[in-house]
Amino acid sequence: MRTLQEIAPLREALDDARRRGLRIALVPTMGNLHEGHLALVAEASRRGDLVVASIFVNPMQFGPGEDLDAYPRTLAEDQQKLQDAGCQLLFAPQAATIYPRGLEAQTRVCVPGISEGLCGGDRPGHFDGVATVVTMLFHLVQPDVACFGKKDYQQLAVIRRLVADLHLPVEVVGVPIVRAEDGLALSSRNGYLDATQRAIAPALYRTLCTLCDALENGADMDATLDDGLSRLEGAGFDPDYLELRAADLGPVSATTREAVLLAAVRLGPTRLIDNLSLTLP
Ligand code: PAJ
Repeated sequence: MRTLQEIAPLREALDDARRRGLRIALVPTMGNLHEGHLALVAEASRRGDLVVASIFVNPMQFGPGEDLDAYPRTLAEDQQKLQDAGCQLLFAPQAATIYPRGLEAQTRVCVPGISEGLCGGDRPGHFDGVATVVTMLFHLVQPDVACFGKKDYQQLAVIRRLVADLHLPVEVVGVPIVRAEDGLALSSRNGYLDATQRAIAPALYRTLCTLCDALENGADMDATLDDGLSRLEGAGFDPDYLELRAADLGPVSATTREAVLLAAVRLGPTRLIDNLSLTLP
């Protein structure tokens, strides 16, 4: 696997791949890779001939006081994992390469509507940062297909919308959530949890499962969500939100069948997110 930090050699390598008729599959990440990321690489290998991953802890998507500086940077381990998973090219730029004029002066991509509420409500500007860097990666790599995890459900919806709105010729693939044996969705941020918090954390997934069962069996939505908030607080979380939405993140109506239950909670300083898809009766 080749690791490239600069744009010119990246373009050269990809131009060459395209001339050879290879189908390019992209997996954007912020590194500190775990089995969730590697599931995206495996899916990308099934769908493309040349798998390109990126590792870039994108400053634009972090708010003031968030964990940009603390975010784990483990490039050497990540390179080994990517190579073992079948990735052929890693793009791992510095911030000055991506944003040479700094963040303030940077052109931005904003995806209204779908970026608002849920994580966008708690993290203002977050999805503008995600949409901007992903659009940039799509232009730099020009992938035929790009893989994103369903763990970041709203992020996936934002990216699908930006691809549609900007008519970008990229097929966006959503990959199922990879979980630890106890149900906790794998996340680079799980590393922030101490042993006590790590023992509490799987209660998020268990609570979502309990609530989904109730909703699939016709329980009242408002009462179930109230019960859910109490359960999350009782387990030791400080919930940011717990919401039932239609699968496209629109509001649930009487005719909604395909839905998703989404939650973000704080556990000490760590923010955890998770979601479960369900079919309403
Ligand atoms: P990061 O948090 O590193 O995640 C990279 C990709 O891995 C995302 O598509 C995310 O949804 C997916 N992922 C993370 N944990 C997962 C899990 N347990 N199961 C399945 N997929 C999982 O998301 C980002 O980086 C950034 O916002 C990025 C898209 C790279 C833009 O900067």
